[in-house]
Amino acid sequence: MRAAVFREAGKRMVVEDVELNAPGAGEVLVRIEAAGVCHSDYHYMTGDISCPMPIVLGHEGSGIVEAVGADSSDRIRVGDRVALLWRPRCGNCLACVTGNPVLCQFGRVLATTGGLLDGTSRLHKGDERIHHFLGVSCFAERVVVSETSVVPVPDGVPPEVAAVAGCAVITGVGAVLNVVTGGSGQPLVVLGSGGVGLSSIMGARLIGANPIIAVDLDPAKLELARHFGATHSVDAREGDAVKRVLDIIPTGAPWVVDAIGAPTTLAEGLAVLAPGGTLIAVGLARGDATVPVPINDLVQKQKRIVGSLYGSSNPLVDLPRIFGLYLAGRLPLDDLIGEHFPLASVNEAYEQLMTGSVGRMILVP
Ligand SMILES: NC(=O)c1ccc[n+]([C@@H]2O[C@H](COP(=O)([O-])OP(=O)(O)OC[C@H]3O[C@@H](n4cnc5c(N)ncnc54)[C@H](O)[C@@H]3O)[C@@H](O)[C@H]2O)c1
Ligand SMILES: [Zn+2]
Ligand SMILES: [Zn+2]
Repeated sequence: MRAAVFREAGKRMVVEDVELNAPGAGEVLVRIEAAGVCHSDYHYMTGDISCPMPIVLGHEGSGIVEAVGADSSDRIRVGDRVALLWRPRCGNCLACVTGNPVLCQFGRVLATTGGLLDGTSRLHKGDERIHHFLGVSCFAERVVVSETSVVPVPDGVPPEVAAVAGCAVITGVGAVLNVVTGGSGQPLVVLGSGGVGLSSIMGARLIGANPIIAVDLDPAKLELARHFGATHSVDAREGDAVKRVLDIIPTGAPWVVDAIGAPTTLAEGLAVLAPGGTLIAVGLARGDATVPVPINDLVQKQKRIVGSLYGSSNPLVDLPRIFGLYLAGRLPLDDLIGEHFPLASVNEAYEQLMTGSVGRMILVP
């Protein structure tokens, strides 16, 4: 099958033929229908974050189950349409049993081994082992994944919507629905209007935040942010984003989502927080990036900074909820979908991500 193989940071991926083993016990084979172009893969492409190589990237996808391995539960059957999760869970570790499955111990196994849950790979090219990315690797025609990495998709949810729901949407909407409390009628600032930030804006509208302030460098993205519910937009290219946010909400925001992840934007997020406010850090950065925090401002204004991984969600519960909200017309996810590319143009899609794509781009194998 064809897959985009990534062999060295800073170099382009090569779409080539690789071999994919049959699903083992508790695994499923999925034919990919759509894969989203998430910025997280880009952090690995540039070497911001390291991973075992060679590897097939892609962690936001959906498709159709073509085979199930031995010992599979009845939850997933051949022919099911599924969304892929990049956080499978064991169900038994402390994180899982205390309701925090995104922190499941398997996350570490996937990241360090580049394998599936047992640490071994189903991808290879002759004798050469090819690694899996976060247990997904959907920049490919097919994937073999753990059955705990898939969630059934209801009728009426198109493949590209199912794909983006599995990362951008659950991350961005989830960071608001699962972290913000009492946000109705209160200001909420979202830094970044990419796939994740736009999803946080949709989440902010769902909980009734007001005003909802979007900050980005790109007027076209800010226009889409307003379409999704931002009441105000701040073009950071025009300088001093902090002052311009505080011109709109002089006392600051009780809730800020940083869906960018640069040291500068995290600092801006802290600066626009109201006393007692919470900055929700969602964007990722270089592995060694840090941000200076003004200590007295933190203490005297009782500000809080919290990280949010995968929308701080419980994907088995939250993804079906997101599909339900979409089908009820309350999450306009069709409008989040940007340009489509064939898998062979994966590098061009990532170039476009960095030069001004609007909405979430989709790769179609
Ligand atoms: N926490 C998680 O679980 C999780 C999940 C998915 C993605 N992420 C991370 O979230 C971040 C966003 O992902 P995405 O796919 O939406 O990326 P994206 O590239 O689509 O969007 C980023 C946006 O930030 C804007 N931007 C960049 N620098 C800016 C600045 N200085 N001021 C204002 N705007 C600026 C860009 O114009 C762009 O619209 C990435 O770092 C990604 O790795 C985290
Ligand atoms: Zn992602
Ligand atoms: Zn677990």
